[in-house]
Amino acid sequence: MERKNQHYSSQFPDVRVKVFTVPVSLRRHLYLFKTITGIFSYKKLDLGTQVFIEHMTIPKNGGHLLDLGCGYGPIGIVLAYLSPQSSVHLIDTNKRALWCTRENIKYNLPERSGKIIVLNGSYFKPLQNKNIQFDAIYMNPPIRNGRKEFLALCKEIPSFLKRNGQFQFVMRKKMGANYIYNYLIQNLSDLYEKINVTFKRSGYWIFSLTSI
Ligand SMILES: C[S@@+](CC[C@H](N)C(=O)[O-])C[C@H]1O[C@@H](n2cnc3c(N)ncnc32)[C@H](O)[C@@H]1O
Repeated sequence: MERKNQHYSSQFPDVRVKVFTVPVSLRRHLYLFKTITGIFSYKKLDLGTQVFIEHMTIPKNGGHLLDLGCGYGPIGIVLAYLSPQSSVHLIDTNKRALWCTRENIKYNLPERSGKIIVLNGSYFKPLQNKNIQFDAIYMNPPIRNGRKEFLALCKEIPSFLKRNGQFQFVMRKKMGANYIYNYLIQNLSDLYEKINVTFKRSGYWIFSLTSI
């Protein structure tokens, strides 16, 4: 029987395999995402992800972009579509999710696979020894791993951002967006030049943190 509580962050989910297709229009373009049981929000695009994609900002001249905790790839794929001059990295721990991401890149961005890099591993581990810094990092964080883990990540992020680089993420109000905001202001103001909530809708807050 399928294990209902199987966590989507698992490296090897053991729920029975079932493939789905999720059609969704984002920033005036239609995407078809292949998804699979055992990964985050496989039946339809998560509302937080949707609000985030519609309102995330992309550097005008492109650059090095990172979708951290990419799942089946919606954020990174939209970034790559809208900013063809950029290189886009996508990272996740869940191997099933990454299988979908690779399929979704081939299907939705057939001419773009060259500048898109998909890596398996935890947060920045797959980038160790690569000496790379990003213009922007995007994330719908796995907050179910715990706030503590996410706040520790917020401390690590600036060393992977260029000067004035941006860390943008979405957080559900119910999952403690207000707490996160206060924590960042009180504890990480020396790491970020600006800490802003740029948009609020449908119970989701979008954060934009600018590195020093
Ligand atoms: C809330 S989901 C968002 C997925 C996707 N970005 C989206 O918006 O549909 C968080 C993702 O983070 C991944 N994740 C959890 N822990 C991780 C870690 N330590 N390093 C990288 N990714 C992780 C999960 O597997 C999951 O795909």
